[in-house]
Order: sequence, then C-alpha cells, then structure tokens
Amino acid sequence: MNDSYINSNYDRLPGSYLFSTIAHKIKEYQGIHPEADIIRLGIGDVTTPLIPEVIKAMHKAVDEMGVKDTFRGYGPEQGYDFLREAIVRGEYTARGIDMDPNDIFVSDGSKCDVANIQELFSEDVRIAIPDPVYPVYLDSNVMAGRTGTLQGDGHFSEVTYLASTAENDFQPDLPKNPVQLIYLCSPNNPTGTVLSRETLQKFVDYANKTGSLILFDGAYNCYIQDESLPHSIFEIPGARTCAIEFRSFSKTAGFTGVRCAYTVIPHELSKLHSMWNRRQCTKFNGVNYVTQRAAEAIYTPQGWKETTAVIKGYMDTAKLIRKELTAAGYTVFGGEHAPYIWWKIPDGEKSFDFFDRLLSTCQVVGTPGSGFGPCGEGYFRLTAFGDHERTKVALQRIKENL
Ligand code: MLT
Repeated sequence: MNDSYINSNYDRLPGSYLFSTIAHKIKEYQGIHPEADIIRLGIGDVTTPLIPEVIKAMHKAVDEMGVKDTFRGYGPEQGYDFLREAIVRGEYTARGIDMDPNDIFVSDGSKCDVANIQELFSEDVRIAIPDPVYPVYLDSNVMAGRTGTLQGDGHFSEVTYLASTAENDFQPDLPKNPVQLIYLCSPNNPTGTVLSRETLQKFVDYANKTGSLILFDGAYNCYIQDESLPHSIFEIPGARTCAIEFRSFSKTAGFTGVRCAYTVIPHELSKLHSMWNRRQCTKFNGVNYVTQRAAEAIYTPQGWKETTAVIKGYMDTAKLIRKELTAAGYTVFGGEHAPYIWWKIPDGEKSFDFFDRLLSTCQVVGTPGSGFGPCGEGYFRLTAFGDHERTKVALQRIKENL
C-alpha cells in the first residue's frame, strides 16, 4: 500500500512502547548471558495468584456456561448490572461517594480505556499531562495527531507538561496555558506518590472554571494506606461536572492476565456519557461473563479479606525496598501508598545507562525514569509486585555489587 495513506502521526512516536523496549533489552542480555538469573522488577506485573474467592467464582461461572439454562452469549456492552452494582457498593458507597451504577462502564483494561477516550475529543484540543507519567496518555495522543512535534528537550511542542517532581513534592501546578484535557494519575505511576486533596480541588476548580475535563487514572488507589488521602476524584466537590475516572482490577485483584477494568463517566457529563456508550456499543462486545463474575467476587466479605491480604503482601515488599535502598544511602520516593518506588540514581547518570549498569552488575531489571517523561531523568522505578524473596535477593545484590 502507498505510505501516504497511512496515519503518519505514528511516525512521530519515538522508538517503541516503553515496556516493549525494556523487554527487548532483557531478551538481548539473556541471549548473550543465558546463565544469568535475572530478577525482574521492571514492568508492574503482578505475581501473586488469584485469590481463592475469585477462583471459586470463575469455576462456578464456567459451569453455568456449560448448562443450557444459564449459558450467556453477548453480554451488555456496559457490563453486567451485578458487577456495576458491586463496584458502586464496594468502591464508592463504602467511601461515602454517591454513584449511579449506570455511570460505570466495565471494560477489558484501563490501558485501552485511557488510550481510547481521546477519540471523543476534537483533534485540536490541547492536552496537559503530568511529567513523569504512564506513557499511554501521551502516546495515544501522538497517534491521534494532537501533540505537535518532538523537541530536543524530549517534550512535544503542543503538549502542556505538568512537572511532578521532588522539587514540588510531586504536586503539579495548574497548566500555565489553556488546555482542554488534563490527565492526572494518583497514586502516580511511576513516582508512587499521591495527589493531595488540595491539589485535586485546585484542578477540579480550574476544570470547572475553564470548561476543561480531567481524565483521572486511579488504577492504584487500593494501595493508598492513609484513609484521609483521596482515593477517587469523585471525593472532591465539583468533580462530577468535570472528571472521568479510570479504575482497574489488574493491580487491585491481580487481573493483569484476566483483563477487567471500568471507567466512570458521571451522568452530569451527559454528552460524553452518551458518546462513550455509543462508542462501546459500536466497538466493544463487553467483558466475558466468567471474568465479570470473578471481579464481582472481590467485593464479598471473604473476597475483600483475601484481596486486602494480597495488597498488604505487595506493600510489605514496597516497604522492604524503601528500607534497604535508604539504608544503602539512596534517596527514594513513593512506595508508601503505591507499589512503585522512585529511586534517585547517582547525579549525572542517565536512567537508561543505569538500567544497563544494574542489569550487568546485579542482573536486576527496573524501569528507567526518562521512559515516563523528561522529568523522570535521573530516576529509576522499581516495582513491588515481584516475588518478596526474590526482591530480597535483588536488594542484596544491589547492596553488594552496585
Ligand atoms: C507499568 O509497569 O507501568 C504497568 O504495568 C503498565 C500497565 O499497567 O499497562
């Protein structure tokens, strides 16, 4: 086919997707050093098996699918009512937030939802994204032709970056120039830090005043240990008229390989609510019944008990990483309300060079901070989702060899 027919915005994307680049580098290293016992603390993928309550629900749902009277074909594109209602009870009513089950759109992943949502907006809206942050927000807007060109400093010309760094205590300032879409991520991936109530209120007030929209990614909210910190944008007065929230079962319940998430579009945003509904009905046939029953199961009393035990296990690993790196003289952030530790690397060293050094000296993998945005340079992300004992070994190697 003639190249002029393709979406040339893809040519603006620098290199491959961050985690594909990392996977490629690991494969290359393992190819040269087949004996190397590599410990992977890079991509935030879970390692603890699904909880018994979820497995029980899946078995039951599978059995139902084998019986004529309980077999299900296409489900509702928005998700089954049983799951939408369980989400409202378990995630929102439980925190004193008023929520209508019809505002919940069940999906097969937050990655897809945060990437797809931008198609509801015109090509010339200007976006603001935290720097550093999960790369999907930016990449999906590059693909849509909304970002301008990549500059020498690593920023795209038409994007407003919201620096979220140690210098501002990871609480970004409001955009300096007019924007229409504002991505926020809390707890933040990659820094593992949480946006305060004051910061969120500032953004909600700004959005309501300017008519802009907040796209709030709360995929890691269940790791917040301090109940006074905001778990949802909808805890903030005024958010229902200016925010959409993305949530996922991936990190909450170990569903990275199962695939289930949800997006909340308040009915106050009636136009967007009906557009997303139209989009889902046209392009999506819903999440399979077995998976939705599995997700529902985390909200039973036993399911929640088992889920919180798994989360505690990951947070114990986060605590261990923080403790050991701090004891070794490093500065670290995050890891207190999130499964990511944001590690300050030696001054002057590039984070991708540090990746290579860590891999070759310790056979430990992490994620270079600059992969999440220019403000991530000088930092490195470790995940607490790895096996606890293997993480101990990784930390020992770091103390001894780095
Ligand atoms: C990460 O490592 O940042 C996440 O696993 C990526 C994702 O959730 O898609």
